[in-house]
Amino acid sequence: MTEVQDRKAAEAPADDFLRFPPDFLWGTATSAYQIEGAVAEDGRTPSIWDTFSHTPGKVNRGDTGDLAVDHYHRWREDVALMKDLGLSAYRFSVAWPRVQPTGRGPAVERGLDFYRALVDELLAAGITPLATLYHWDLPQHLETPSTGGSAAGGGWTVRETAERFGEYASLVAGALGDRVRHWTTLNEPWCSAFLGYGSGVHAPGRTDPGEALKAAHHLNLAHGRGVAALRAALPGTAQLSVSLNLHQVRPLTDSPEDQEAVRRIDAVGNRIFLSPVLRGRYDADLLQDTAHLVDWEQLVRPGDLAAIGAPIDQLGLNYYSPAVVSGSGASRDDCHGRSDHSPWPGAEHVAFHQPPGELTAMNWSIDPTGLRDLLDRIHLERPGLPVVITENGMACEDYVTPEGVVNDRERIAFVHQHLTAVHRAIEAGVPVAGYFLWSLLDNFEWAYGYAKRFGMVHVDFPTQRRTPKASAHWYGRACRTGAVPRSLS
Ligand code: FCB
Repeated sequence: MTEVQDRKAAEAPADDFLRFPPDFLWGTATSAYQIEGAVAEDGRTPSIWDTFSHTPGKVNRGDTGDLAVDHYHRWREDVALMKDLGLSAYRFSVAWPRVQPTGRGPAVERGLDFYRALVDELLAAGITPLATLYHWDLPQHLETPSTGGSAAGGGWTVRETAERFGEYASLVAGALGDRVRHWTTLNEPWCSAFLGYGSGVHAPGRTDPGEALKAAHHLNLAHGRGVAALRAALPGTAQLSVSLNLHQVRPLTDSPEDQEAVRRIDAVGNRIFLSPVLRGRYDADLLQDTAHLVDWEQLVRPGDLAAIGAPIDQLGLNYYSPAVVSGSGASRDDCHGRSDHSPWPGAEHVAFHQPPGELTAMNWSIDPTGLRDLLDRIHLERPGLPVVITENGMACEDYVTPEGVVNDRERIAFVHQHLTAVHRAIEAGVPVAGYFLWSLLDNFEWAYGYAKRFGMVHVDFPTQRRTPKASAHWYGRACRTGAVPRSLS
């Protein structure tokens, strides 16, 4: 027995525990813009999120990621925290504008050095790194080039951005490929395309359904170019994936109208990414639903689908909450932010309803059956393809008590329920390779600013003091033992 196995055996009694596979990755996830700060240091230039957050009215209370949680300077302390808690994996993202400030040309070595040092520190702490190449921080220069720049601009609505991404992926792979085995190309391209260019609640804040669909295709193409670049640079053992926020969509009633609403949302919410990535095609119904918004024949060029459908080794799944829809009626919030413009091109008429279950501080309903259903679906569609849950978690109204602790019992219950669902899926034969809790630290929650706390470590934003919450201790024990109790009571 290795020392780690010994520890696992000693800490977890044989009974009353759900045991996970020995090589299961237990981690937390973060992203660059949400935690790093240091937005003008070491050659970094603005991303679309810097511009967006500095635009009045776009982010709650005018919060920005300028300082965030200062991880760019406190990364050693943050890795030490993970080590102390006993985490075995960590998902972080690389900031494109730190590596390639204009989105083209040679890498800025100081930018890459930050990630080299971070990864070395993780490896020294026995923590497996999982690198995300793109978590929404497109160099602003690729969206709107500054005068005299050579880029075309247009962000993800133009094809060139996918080609730029392929080049950027090569640079990062060249720098980190000898030490990072797990990679995900894009985080939640649905959000980048449809919140960024459809509803406009995310950067760059544009609101054109046709442009949003173009962005979706170019993000898919970027994934394909990224996979090709990573394959070319990395050893054969590399594990490549893309992280999708698949929507578990349920009909309000059994009526054909509501079933049709599910089909439409599934097409533009899920299959627009799943089908090209897993099967090298766009589904006919999606093309039909959106034919009035974009010329697909012109958008998808010969060779694109083969590139996008290149084999991946794992699928990244981000899951928070299911959706309930109907074909007509008054819509409540779809949980993707308020806007007069729909993030669902071709399905604008679909109404969203409050799913059952308790709500998190985001007003997202808590329902681990949605996670289980998505895992089963992926397994059915692609048996044998390992799934990594690259995000799952909840926002709570956390505060530090006078005794200096954060009693986030709801988060423990949430993680426990979702890990139990994962365990059942594994028992049923779904190859789930890991679970990454969103998030390590309280951080900049996009358009909500610092008002929503997802961390298992509390951050007092004015002082940047880190306080592990009760959930961090609970989750750390799960990581160290490779098991969770069957019941929390
Ligand atoms: C996901 C994002 C992540 C975080 C969580 C709460 O959609 O990928 O950055 O904001 O939601």
